[in-house]
Amino acid sequence: MRPDLTPLLFAVCFLDVWDLSHVEEMQSQERIFLSSLGLSGQPRAAGTHLQPLQARSHVPSALWRMFRRSEKLHTQESEPCTVSEYGVRGNIIRYVQDQGRLVSGWSSSCQACVEKQLYFNMSVLQPVELLSLAQLEVNFHWKPVRSAELLQAPRALGVSLYKVMRATLRGADPQANRRLLLSQSVQLQPEPTSVTLDLTSLAENWRKPGRNYGLVLELLPLSAEPQDLLPFHPGNSLPLEPALILPLIQASLVAVSLNPQQCRSRQRRSAIHLPVTPSNVCKARRLYIDFKDVGWQDWIIAPQGYMANYCHGECPFPLSESLNGTNHAILQTLVHSLDPHGTPQPCCVPIRLSPISMLYYDNNDNVVLRHYQDMVVDECGCR
Ligand SMILES: *[C@@H]1O[C@H](CO)[C@@H](O)[C@H](O)[C@H]1NC(C)=O
Ligand SMILES: *[C@@H]1O[C@H](CO)[C@@H](O)[C@H](O)[C@H]1NC(C)=O
Repeated sequence: MRPDLTPLLFAVCFLDVWDLSHVEEMQSQERIFLSSLGLSGQPRAAGTHLQPLQARSHVPSALWRMFRRSEKLHTQESEPCTVSEYGVRGNIIRYVQDQGRLVSGWSSSCQACVEKQLYFNMSVLQPVELLSLAQLEVNFHWKPVRSAELLQAPRALGVSLYKVMRATLRGADPQANRRLLLSQSVQLQPEPTSVTLDLTSLAENWRKPGRNYGLVLELLPLSAEPQDLLPFHPGNSLPLEPALILPLIQASLVAVSLNPQQCRSRQRRSAIHLPVTPSNVCKARRLYIDFKDVGWQDWIIAPQGYMANYCHGECPFPLSESLNGTNHAILQTLVHSLDPHGTPQPCCVPIRLSPISMLYYDNNDNVVLRHYQDMVVDECGCR
């Protein structure tokens, strides 16, 4: 049973409509909120219930850094909807996980090679989003089995990356359907090494239905002496001497996109400290929302909660200037003072809201950093 979301999602003045089923209302509010994050429901790791966060795909350290930085930025004037780390426009940064398989057996084109398919499902981007950047990141983690391996001739991998142009029919030559994008060698060392490549226009193409055939990564073990080209031991087979164990390969596509509908430039007034003076008059009140309380701790990575605040209080006659009333609200209080039963007071509602950044898992278990507007009440007024 999930607790009440109403303080966050309803203005006080609408409390009368509450005769509707409470649970239905809550579910519908949750759906609206999730769909504005591009989510079809509360994200769950595939095939499991409530998998603990630590068992899910890890949060890249670059994304953590950006999250902490954006938290600080919200209290300052800054260019909205720009990702300064990449120098592009955007309010959403996703680490789209690779779903390609490691092709078992030898590559058809190169006897000593091993192939890995790379597939990034771009349909996690909503149609409204404008893709500003897609950068491939392939990380190689290599653990020497014996320390002696480290002392031998330098270990390196020849890495070739191909884009696949169309599906290959059985029996056809897969090479004919590929185009080389990158070819370089990667030094194998105990520290992780990575290869990055800008794939923005290709990834834009992948968003069209039926256009994503993925990539192929071809790995060729290199050694100092060409004649002792070392064979791979794919999979878990025991390392024979001399042999090169396949490094662990992790690939993700860093996709920066802009949802123009969620990019109004509103900056929070420098960290607001709401006064705690008791008063019945309309003003912003402190409210800390803990995501655990609304049952979202399994997919929101950070923050764990935030100071959301809410508006509450009377809009009494005569409406003073500090209550930020509209002309209409001023007249409504006047009419209310003459006929309290016929006309209600105006409502005390948010008139200025500011964004927060959220780090969360989407429905495909990708890690997403999103600049999310209208999450914090900064100022209230009578409307
Ligand atoms: C890609 O993701 C979408 C939506 O999350 C899903 O419906 C679709 O089946 C996925 N496609 C593949 C090939 O995994
Ligand atoms: C009305 O706006 C002013 C600044 O524009 C602000 O200082 C004040 O707190 C607002 N009133 C309420 C009730 O929030």
